[in-house]
Amino acid sequence: MTSSALPDRAEAQAAAATADEPLLKVSGVTRYYGDRIGCTDISFDLWPGEVLAIVGESGSGKTTLLNCLSTRLAPTAGAIEYRMRDGAMRNLYQLTEAERRLLMRTDWGFVHQNPAEGLRMTVSAGANVGERLMAVGNRHYGNIRDTATSWLERVEIAADRIDDQPRAFSGGMRQRLQIARNLVTHPRLVFMDEPTGGLDVSVQARLLDMLRRLVADLGLSVIIVTHDLAVARLLSHRIVVMRHGRIIETGLTDQVLDDPREPYSQLLVSSILQA
Ligand SMILES: Nc1ncnc2c1ncn2[C@@H]1O[C@H](COP(=O)(O)OP(=O)(O)OP(=O)(O)O)[C@@H](O)[C@H]1O
Ligand SMILES: [Mg+2]
Repeated sequence: MTSSALPDRAEAQAAAATADEPLLKVSGVTRYYGDRIGCTDISFDLWPGEVLAIVGESGSGKTTLLNCLSTRLAPTAGAIEYRMRDGAMRNLYQLTEAERRLLMRTDWGFVHQNPAEGLRMTVSAGANVGERLMAVGNRHYGNIRDTATSWLERVEIAADRIDDQPRAFSGGMRQRLQIARNLVTHPRLVFMDEPTGGLDVSVQARLLDMLRRLVADLGLSVIIVTHDLAVARLLSHRIVVMRHGRIIETGLTDQVLDDPREPYSQLLVSSILQA
């Protein structure tokens, strides 16, 4: 199926030419809530195809940072630049509202911990997936339904559930539906906030396995917030450890988890601080 969200040849060439440049450049991002620090002086680059985990104890600023990065919350200071599909680097907070909305509906995904925040609970599963396709210009009902069906199967939801509403689904199914809804437009960057939180351990394991496969198959760049280091270990290439709103350590996932440098990271890894 053709779709305006899929890169054409010129865009693909532009993307290939910039593959050795970051997808996202974060410089000095700071967010205060009144006098309280949400996050402060956060800088890092995210590379195409990279999975970055943001870890840290409750209140360390993970969600604040993720919301700033995904333009859901305006930073108090700092800059965030994103490489658009045409290869141009744009300051996210200088996009027009229309550009920002298009980005969020097509080139980006956002997987919430609570699927109800990322789904429309009173329309069918098929419509939840199809809606994103319509947002990128698909109008052909048959094509939309076919694509929705194949995405449901991809996230292991039986095709005969396509007309059911997500409120009739289990927690694990809802989360898988939310993932299908996000990935159907082939986003390049997906934000996730504790995507496996609140699920049974066995359901978590299955979801993680699925996420890992999809991320690899689609070559997604991902920024995932988690307080669960096992999730970070399984999914991420690189880890950022936050404390009191700051990055206190960053490095390759195995390096940080097997040989943390900072005393706080050592505590975190030794599970003393894990919930
Ligand atoms: N809307 C808000 N108003 C005021 N302070 C806030 C608000 N949201 C977060 N904070 C504060 O900002 C700091 C960072 O919070 P944040 O929610 O980003 O942490 P977190 O790492 O996501 O925590 P958790 O693991 O519990 O989700 C905390 O001190 C928190 O109390
Ligand atoms: Mg949070």
